[in-house]
Amino acid sequence: MGKEITWLIIIGICIKSSCESLFNTETPALSNGKDWILDYTDIETKFSVRSVEEPEEDLCYLVPGKKDTVTQCGFNISLPTFAIIHGWSVAGLFESWIHKLVAALFERVPNANVIVVDWLDRAQHHYPNSAANTKLVGEDVARLINWLEVDLKYDLKNIHLLGYSLGAHVAGVAGNLTNNKINRITGMDPAGPRFEYAEYRNRLSPDDATFVDVLHTNTRGSPDLSIGIQRPVGHVDIYPNGGTAQPGCSFRYTVDMMRSFGLHNLDQILKCAHERSVHLFIDSLVNKQQQSMAYRCNSKDAFDRGLCLSCRKNRCNNMGFGVNKIRTTRSAKMYLKTGASMPFKVFHYQIKFHVFNQQKLSLNEQPFIVSLYGTHGEKEDVQLILSNVTTNTTVSFLLTTDVDLGELLRVTLQWDSDSYFSFFNSNEFMVRRIRVKTGETQSKVIFRAESDGKFAHLVQGGDPVTFTKSKEDQNSRTHERNHRLKMQGSFFKQGLNGAATDTSPSSSSLPPSPEH
Ligand SMILES: *[C@@H]1O[C@H](CO)[C@@H](O)[C@H](O)[C@H]1NC(C)=O
Ligand SMILES: *[C@@H]1O[C@H](CO)[C@@H](O)[C@H](O)[C@H]1NC(C)=O
Ligand SMILES: *[C@@H]1O[C@H](CO)[C@@H](O)[C@H](O)[C@H]1NC(C)=O
Ligand SMILES: *[C@@H]1O[C@H](CO)[C@@H](O)[C@H](O)[C@H]1NC(C)=O
Repeated sequence: MGKEITWLIIIGICIKSSCESLFNTETPALSNGKDWILDYTDIETKFSVRSVEEPEEDLCYLVPGKKDTVTQCGFNISLPTFAIIHGWSVAGLFESWIHKLVAALFERVPNANVIVVDWLDRAQHHYPNSAANTKLVGEDVARLINWLEVDLKYDLKNIHLLGYSLGAHVAGVAGNLTNNKINRITGMDPAGPRFEYAEYRNRLSPDDATFVDVLHTNTRGSPDLSIGIQRPVGHVDIYPNGGTAQPGCSFRYTVDMMRSFGLHNLDQILKCAHERSVHLFIDSLVNKQQQSMAYRCNSKDAFDRGLCLSCRKNRCNNMGFGVNKIRTTRSAKMYLKTGASMPFKVFHYQIKFHVFNQQKLSLNEQPFIVSLYGTHGEKEDVQLILSNVTTNTTVSFLLTTDVDLGELLRVTLQWDSDSYFSFFNSNEFMVRRIRVKTGETQSKVIFRAESDGKFAHLVQGGDPVTFTKSKEDQNSRTHERNHRLKMQGSFFKQGLNGAATDTSPSSSSLPPSPEH
């Protein structure tokens, strides 16, 4: 299935451009010298200052060099500024996510300037030409920023650029050219083709702002053909759902859309996962109480086995607007699962147990059914396939729920039969206890078999076995509560009262940004 999508994407790009030029990786040289940066006469990019009242309308343009446009447009130099930068535009029109993001920014930060960077004229060419134009547009954005700083004494700590697709690289180029560092760049699925192996200065990179956070939502296929860039390019790089396909953007969905809308809308259809990056960010702005968390992990596979739900030493972070500005020395990939629609937050659980047996037994692709019961709710009959269940080894997997179950009380585990014949085999394992770790609360709970005091018998094709919260583990409960308090102090409290206090003295967090 992955292959088909990759090919569709390539076809999508090739329809709109010539494939030959897609593989040509030359980029034009930057303008020479430093003078251009003070020359505002040839700026082609337009800077539309949007308003709370009419977030969709282009009412007034800020023109570098023309101070009167500042008051005309109601640009307030004492407020933080968000600048939204769109990507490749086949139709030459703003896509509908733009005004949604403008509105979401105003909803979260009512006292702010929101600018939409309009480079549609340069974005509607064949992909390779539009990609090369990111350099010119980045120069324009840098000139706007330098003008604000030099002529209006605007504090660059108040600037946050948000770039989607090619727009993320525009932001990167701009951030590299300003006299001083801007506060933050958020890259929303930065474009991959022609940027995966590009030089630092031609693409988004961590030096382009004091803090760079990136969401990767459509990275698949061979690196230079992936719609979204695969390599980490910021201080925090988050790969929701592994960064490849996104829930609700499946191949089946693509085919259905193509049937109803035809090939001419291919680019619209293909961008579902690409554009998901923007909607995840919007979600983080408007659904403050449902803050999604991402976890640092060495691989998608390790994450899917539930091995990376730790928050120790800044291993977890908020996704989107409320990210904690932690700059690790090396780019770290972070992962999380999400739902298919807003609010996207899900709860992450690692389920872990050791399987014992006298005989050596090693089985692949075994179907299991798991149910979790907590003080606030339950999640029943989650079906999953465990790739390898081997005698005297530990099984670990990730399970997510869209609802908060509260404190977990009970877990049931059932080993389904993988075929009609396994009924006659009746393989079995013994399980003493199940350990469940919750990512969102960092609680760890041990569950023991209900019936047998020592071992539960998990029979292939047999009945579900119930494990209940262990009464003997009082210590673990106290530990859990302490840990949760600690967590709320450092992550959740901050989200609730809006105060950006850095509560982790050991971290290398940066000063809070003004928009918080
Ligand atoms: C700019 O914003 C500040 C802070 O919200 C406010 O006090 C001031 O009146 C605003 N200036 C203008 C011209 O609206
Ligand atoms: C711009 O990029 C170049 C090349 O990566 C780098 O050496 C330089 O330090 C960057 N400048 C700024 C201000 O980030
Ligand atoms: C698995 O471990 C148990 C207890 O440690 C032991 O009795 C049993 O022989 C082991 N099974 C195998 C196949 O090694
Ligand atoms: C399953 O895991 C066991 C123990 O880790 C390993 O020895 C075995 O090769 C694995 N089997 C497969 C098919 O991956």
